[in-house]
Amino acid sequence: MQNKFIPLSVPNIKGNELKYVTNAIKTEWVSTAGADIKTFEENFAKYLNVPYSCAVQSGTAGLHLCLRHFGISQGDIVLVPSLTFIATVNPVIYQNAEPVFFDCDDNMCLDPVQVEKYLSEECSFDGEKTFEKNSKKQVKAVMPVHIFGDTCDMDKIMQLAEKYKLIVIEDATESLGTKFISENYKGKYTGTAGHAGVFSFNGNKIITTGGGGMVVSNDEFCIKHIKYLSQQAKDDDVYFINNEVGYNYRMTNIQAALGIAQLEQLDSFIEIKKNNHKLYGKLLKNSKGVEFVNFHAADYANYWFYSLKIKSGDISVRDKFIKYMSENKVQVRPLWKLNHTQKPFLHFKKTDCSNAEKFYKQIVNIPCSSNLSEEDVERVCSLISNFDFGGK
Ligand SMILES: Cc1ncc(COP(=O)(O)O)c(C=O)c1O
Repeated sequence: MQNKFIPLSVPNIKGNELKYVTNAIKTEWVSTAGADIKTFEENFAKYLNVPYSCAVQSGTAGLHLCLRHFGISQGDIVLVPSLTFIATVNPVIYQNAEPVFFDCDDNMCLDPVQVEKYLSEECSFDGEKTFEKNSKKQVKAVMPVHIFGDTCDMDKIMQLAEKYKLIVIEDATESLGTKFISENYKGKYTGTAGHAGVFSFNGNKIITTGGGGMVVSNDEFCIKHIKYLSQQAKDDDVYFINNEVGYNYRMTNIQAALGIAQLEQLDSFIEIKKNNHKLYGKLLKNSKGVEFVNFHAADYANYWFYSLKIKSGDISVRDKFIKYMSENKVQVRPLWKLNHTQKPFLHFKKTDCSNAEKFYKQIVNIPCSSNLSEEDVERVCSLISNFDFGGK
């Protein structure tokens, strides 16, 4: 028992998954048509209290479809955080558009202050469109990412988007079930404030369909068009007439069957994750040299990923700690390499990302699966307490 491997974040499949998937298989609806896809879309939209939703193959596919729908294309500028998984940024490149990288705030989410500085100092607004003064390229969209299940300052981001007429595509892939805390959107679910919101059901997410994603919007045409694009933009089922270039991005019925069962358990997963987070907080309260990070959204967060902050910011201590945990069969992970330092993006514009750079050296994510036992949490905490992080 001592040496059991404790993974970082894995699926929890103990509800009606087998029953619903078995039904999909028995009825032979296994591919991109079938009643479960519609049911999953409807249940998901109902949960979030949004009118429209489209189930897709992945969060990445969902983000790509949004950019495509909103007409982001060659040479357009899209504002993105540097501190995020690369899958936020890759779809910008698929569209031959250009990311500009921004720093994060104290909650590791896109910093609206930096975005405002860039828009007011380096761009001009002609009453309808915003252009970067130097390059003359149009700034078309911003992609806030609700990192680890916390929330961006959506009031500020939406105010800026309104002022500069930008499209807002929320990357809510990590924040299903998290609600906003900022004044104008308080109590509404992340992913529902912008022009479109995208969720992921990858294996490490709070609910999973194996792989999969969902796009939601308050705009009927947006979702209708995204659904159409996700099915090869087929206009005619008999003669296969296509008037646009589409993608094979639609979710399958088997994935949707899994999704329906997982969604039934979402609130209980959040509850478990919240309680495990509380237990970690209690057990790590007096640890030396590290701090267990609280969610800025507090009771409104989904508690997806847990972060430990190494106070000294010494990256060699971080790496020694990762090695030590791995030797003790506990999976932990540093932050993603910051996007403005990733090889494919080195030639794109970046603003001062010093806050993100500081977090990069300090943060390590620790096990947070919804099937983590109290015993697991205790073992992880005891390992943490026995490690010398230096400092007080
Ligand atoms: C911030 C972020 N954006 C995008 C994605 C992409 O989602 P998917 O893996 O479903 O393509 C993920 C998750 O993997 C993510 O964490």
